[in-house]
Order: sequence, then structure tokens, then C-alpha cells
Amino acid sequence: ETYTIEKVKSLIKTYPDFPQEGILFRDIFPIFQIPAAVDCLINYLAELALEEAKSAKCGKIDVVVGLDARGFLFGPSLAIKLGAKFVPIRKRGKLPGPTIKYEYQKEYGLDVLEIQSDAILPGENVLIVDDLLATGGTCGAAEKLVLNLGGRVILNQFVIELVGLGGRKSLSGKTMSVMEF
Ligand code: PRP
Repeated sequence: ETYTIEKVKSLIKTYPDFPQEGILFRDIFPIFQIPAAVDCLINYLAELALEEAKSAKCGKIDVVVGLDARGFLFGPSLAIKLGAKFVPIRKRGKLPGPTIKYEYQKEYGLDVLEIQSDAILPGENVLIVDDLLATGGTCGAAEKLVLNLGGRVILNQFVIELVGLGGRKSLSGKTMSVMEF
């Protein structure tokens, strides 16, 4: 069975009041029960990334950065398609060795993201990928870490964008999402 992006979108399940009252939770895991759907989605992300690299005249994407934790579902497969390396940005205390940190504001208090200091080389072209763009706080912090290591953010890619929250306004790099809710 071949999948279209519309069909992939229809696999996303919506749960009201999870994990808290008032939150409409979008569950992407049903996609991963259907290999053809995963394949369609990864190919779609890769095509858009290649187009962007072309129009940015940056040559190729050197690094795909995935954001803890659900960005890790997409980053490595996307990196393979692009012939790029995969690098994680993780929540505090998860990465060994020298790291740089960035503190950012979450709904309740501060949070910290980290990247290994040698993971991105100055001048490398970076694609950031995550499952969801909400307020943009997480990806904004990731952009800062990439820039602090001397990387260039070519594109921020999301599977889902909650457009009502206006998260893309807080991002400095070009931003695209596969599905809007
Ligand atoms: C979710 C989502 C993004 C982030 C988006 O992750 O996967 O990473 O929130 O929100 P923002 O745009 O408002 O920053 P979460 O912090 O729930 O972590 P998880 O992926 O580890 O579950």
C-alpha cells in the first residue's frame, strides 16, 4: 500500500485532556505501526530539505539535529536519506563529555538543553527536526546551541505545527511543518 501525506496525517490520534486538562494531545506513534507511512513521511521531509538546501545555495545539509525525545524518531532516518550526520540535542544531564547548555523558559520555570561541544563544526549546514512545534521555546533554544557551535541553521522541520500558538515567530531560521493543526 502506498501512502500519501494526507493519509499519514489521518493516522495521528487526538486525545483531549492529556497529559493535563485542557491539552489536546496529538499522538504520532500510530504512524510508526505502518512502515509504508513512516517511509512516506521521511521521504517527504527529505525532499523538502533537499529543496531548501538548493534554494539556500548551501550545498548540502551536513548535520541533522534531532530534539529530545520525539525528534529522535525522525532525525536518524532523515539523516541517512540526506547523507548527513545525526546529532542529538538532549535535556539536561543526559549527554556525557564536554557540552554547551542553553536555558530557556517553559510554561513552568526554566529548562535546559545540551549538545556535545564537538558535534557540530563551524560552518556546517544544519537541519533541526522535531515532532511538534508549539510555543517554539524548545526549537529556539536548539537554534541557539547550533549557532553557538558555529553551525548555520538552514531549516527547522516539524511534523506537526500548532499554528495557534505562533511558535514560528520565535525562531530565527526558516521553518516548515508537514501538518498544521
Ligand atoms: C514536546 C515536543 C517538542 C516541544 C514543543 O516535547 O516534542 O519538543 O514539546 O514545545 P514548544 O514548541 O512549546 O517548546 P516535550 O518537552 O513534551 O518532550 P518529549 O519529546 O521528551 O516528550
